[in-house]
Amino acid sequence: MNEPLGPNKSAEFLEPPETSASLRPDPRGILKDGAPNEPALRALFRKSILSVRDFSREQIISLCRLAAYLESVEITAYHPLDGKLIITAFFEASTRTRISFESATLRLDGKIISIPEGGQTGVKKGEGLADIGEMFNAYGDLVIMRHTETDALERIQRGLRLPIINAGNGTGEHPTQALADWYALMKWCPGLALDEPIAEPLNIGLLGTPGSMRTVKSFLLMALAFKQHINSVTIVSEMADPLGKPVEEIVREEGIAVKITNDMGKHLSGLDVIYMNSIVCIGDQYTAMDASYKLDAASPLKEGAVILHPLARLEELDKSLDATPHNLYFAQAHGAVFVRQALLLSVLGRLYQLPGDIQLTH
Ligand code: CP
Repeated sequence: MNEPLGPNKSAEFLEPPETSASLRPDPRGILKDGAPNEPALRALFRKSILSVRDFSREQIISLCRLAAYLESVEITAYHPLDGKLIITAFFEASTRTRISFESATLRLDGKIISIPEGGQTGVKKGEGLADIGEMFNAYGDLVIMRHTETDALERIQRGLRLPIINAGNGTGEHPTQALADWYALMKWCPGLALDEPIAEPLNIGLLGTPGSMRTVKSFLLMALAFKQHINSVTIVSEMADPLGKPVEEIVREEGIAVKITNDMGKHLSGLDVIYMNSIVCIGDQYTAMDASYKLDAASPLKEGAVILHPLARLEELDKSLDATPHNLYFAQAHGAVFVRQALLLSVLGRLYQLPGDIQLTH
């Protein structure tokens, strides 16, 4: 494999402040033992991504490997999304997802029609999503949509014939957030990209309720693709049944044993990876769930343990953790640009525009 060309100019802003001890693992670690699989990525051409279950394990790993190239190599000069027009339609608030998708697109020389306030479309006059989808067919090449309602994807797809990427649907899923989560974990532990189990399989803790929190659910569903590397999954939740029936059935079918507890203190010091969140949007209301589970720099975390959080945060994740080596959450948010670039290049069929230095396996 050729050496990557050098630091990505577009990534210069990602350097952590010198004073910060937060983790920023080198993306090239993922590339030492393999390259993105081209047929796996090409199979995503014109495919809608509604759920983590729309990805195979090979596709998840290949998207992360391609993201690692994109994070390490200057490719702006190749204009790989030139001529492509992406519609970001957000019917619910967002900082990271919309702006990182738009940044990902613009840095690849694609164009954006940005709808940050979906409520200002014809929806305000009572127009249905199916008709909006029918209009989008003429306006762009790909739609990225967030909505407060879980069934919104199904409704827009009644009129839409373009591929659509789910950027969060109510209490449903957030599949590209899970890609960003596992990309961060793969950079931290490159062995996750391999078939052979890692030397010390991970004890993963979820502080949250997968049945109601789309980020926690998508993280857990994507974890199933890495089950040979996982020793245990512990869900810490205030709810008695945090998984809910559909997720419970999937997890059981995959043969992963999940412990459920409301006692964080009993389990915290044994966890290698902690995924946490507290904000849930139900209907048009934001509420905090599982907010009684708080972490700060004084929490008894295992040495080397890492924390992931999709952000935005409330009081559950104290800022005192920001400058510690437990902080993988900033790398998680920053890396989202590259893994979303990898997905856009695949869905829009522009892998052929990448420089020859980016080697793909055939
Ligand atoms: N992680 C995430 O979905 O953040 P935003 O709500 O800011 O998009």
